[in-house]
Amino acid sequence: MLPAVIALLMLLSCTSGQNPAIQVILTNKGLQYGKHTGVGLIQEKLESITLPDISGEVDIKIGRVHYTLTGIAVKQCDLPEPSVQFFQDAAGFKTSSLGLNAALAGGWRTRFGIIHDGGSFDMTMFGVDVTSVVGLGKDPDGHLFITSISCDAVVGDVNINFHGGASFMFQPFVRYFKGRIRNEIQSGICSAVNGSVEKLELHLQAMNVSFDVNEVLTLDLPLTGTPIIDASRLNLGLKGEFYSIRAHKEPPFKAQPFTMPQQPDFMLSVGLSDFTLNSASYGYYSDGLLQILIDDSMIPPTSPIHLNTTYMGMFAPQLPEKFPGLLMDLQVYAREAPMFSFQSGAAKLISLVDVKAFAIEPNGTQVPLFKLNVDSKFSTKLWISGGSLKGSMTMDNFTVTLAASEVGQVKTDALERSLTVAIKATVLPKVNDALSKGWILPRMKHAQLVNSVLKMEEVSDNKIAHYDVTGTFNWEHKGSLG
Ligand SMILES: *[C@@H]1O[C@H](CO)[C@@H](O)[C@H](O)[C@H]1NC(C)=O
Ligand SMILES: *[C@@H]1O[C@H](CO)[C@@H](O)[C@H](O)[C@H]1NC(C)=O
Ligand SMILES: *[C@@H]1O[C@H](CO)[C@@H](O)[C@H](O)[C@H]1NC(C)=O
Ligand SMILES: *[C@@H]1O[C@H](CO)[C@@H](O)[C@H](O)[C@H]1NC(C)=O
Ligand SMILES: *[C@@H]1O[C@H](CO)[C@@H](O)[C@H](O)[C@H]1NC(C)=O
Repeated sequence: MLPAVIALLMLLSCTSGQNPAIQVILTNKGLQYGKHTGVGLIQEKLESITLPDISGEVDIKIGRVHYTLTGIAVKQCDLPEPSVQFFQDAAGFKTSSLGLNAALAGGWRTRFGIIHDGGSFDMTMFGVDVTSVVGLGKDPDGHLFITSISCDAVVGDVNINFHGGASFMFQPFVRYFKGRIRNEIQSGICSAVNGSVEKLELHLQAMNVSFDVNEVLTLDLPLTGTPIIDASRLNLGLKGEFYSIRAHKEPPFKAQPFTMPQQPDFMLSVGLSDFTLNSASYGYYSDGLLQILIDDSMIPPTSPIHLNTTYMGMFAPQLPEKFPGLLMDLQVYAREAPMFSFQSGAAKLISLVDVKAFAIEPNGTQVPLFKLNVDSKFSTKLWISGGSLKGSMTMDNFTVTLAASEVGQVKTDALERSLTVAIKATVLPKVNDALSKGWILPRMKHAQLVNSVLKMEEVSDNKIAHYDVTGTFNWEHKGSLG
């Protein structure tokens, strides 16, 4: 029944038409590592828990004794390494912990008619087997959803020794109510498991699926479909789309489907399609931020060229005659949103820019002179070092063409050469300086990722960057799963 429901959900999510731009993959290696780390935390947690009271009645032939076992605390417990695996049938995980033994202690009280008695007890549990299956899903808001599918706990045997009071009287009857205590403990273990799953689910529900990354952009990260689980990995597809906070316009392009390469040697892989970067670029563009007004005050005084009609005569010969000795300014704006595409080893960036040149009359009036199309291509290499994403950028191509002119001939070849030199000498060093400082990658609360690799690949039309993490997670062991 359940697998059929999940298959249907997956079908529905496939027909919703949205491809994930970010995919997160947890491999079996990562799952096993996480389990290994989790066991230590669970062991610590187990040794600090107090079980709920157990009470009942036992018939001792001459009447009924009402008993309560209270303050039951785990004194010692050896948790065998459990097994955790991806569980396809329930689209989740199956965890089994077999052969756990534990020593517990607490207090007992009995009531037999008007006789009250009490003391302490030791209890040992042998061969406790717990198997739990949890399923993953997606709620309508795109949160990851986790639910307990089944829980089976079997307690192999229980030994109880009572001390104090008239314990010698009912110690012989232990075998009559031991079965009941076993049942109580069995269902107690499963309610604890269900309780933790519910607690985790509440955390997931409270998580934001949208984050403001700066004052301009917000990043949408809801799941685009139900988590996909096979025997070797868990794959989460996330929307991964940036929007301008103010304009919130949908870009004129869509995320293309992509398949993450199999990377069983890594623990965690994050794949990013160029759609994510392009949606950020479109966010800035749709907010009208990709434009700048350049005037002569922004040109370094030592520059051989100035925004003055006299100097610009070398590019537009008629300019100094028509408008002698006037300052100029340039309106530079993106004709379209700059587009990234991931190719082997590098991200290519195409930038299409229009430049409108104006002369400024002494009374402040701006006179249009000419308009240029400036198209450039850049290559950016990105890598991860010291927990930061770093990069370097080179300019591959730069072309200037004349779109309109009020001042006759404009020598675009000469302009192209001069601007290429200017960009390489002034703009790119600044960009590269910023890229070499890099951005600190997000970290998990208790874990530090080491040995990460960033790769860009073009697999036919499937262009992605993937960020793979292997080696070890350095858990800051705080003794809690909080
Ligand atoms: C735990 O959850 C599973 C699945 O919903 C259910 O079958 C089981 O009865 C629950 N156990 C307890 C003790 O609540
Ligand atoms: C979720 O977002 C809201 C508003 O942006 C913020 O106030 C809240 O603290 C966020 N919650 C979490 C758990 O990050
Ligand atoms: C433009 O340059 C010429 C030549 O150097 C100079 O005479 C003129 O004053 C400049 N115009 C302005 C407005 O600075
Ligand atoms: C500014 O000066 C120019 C040329 O001297 C003239 O053509 C134009 O009408 C003037 N504009 C205003 C608003 O005075
Ligand atoms: C630069 O772009 C122009 C126009 O698109 C093209 O003709 C030229 O071959 C390109 N040059 C290089 C080096 O890619």
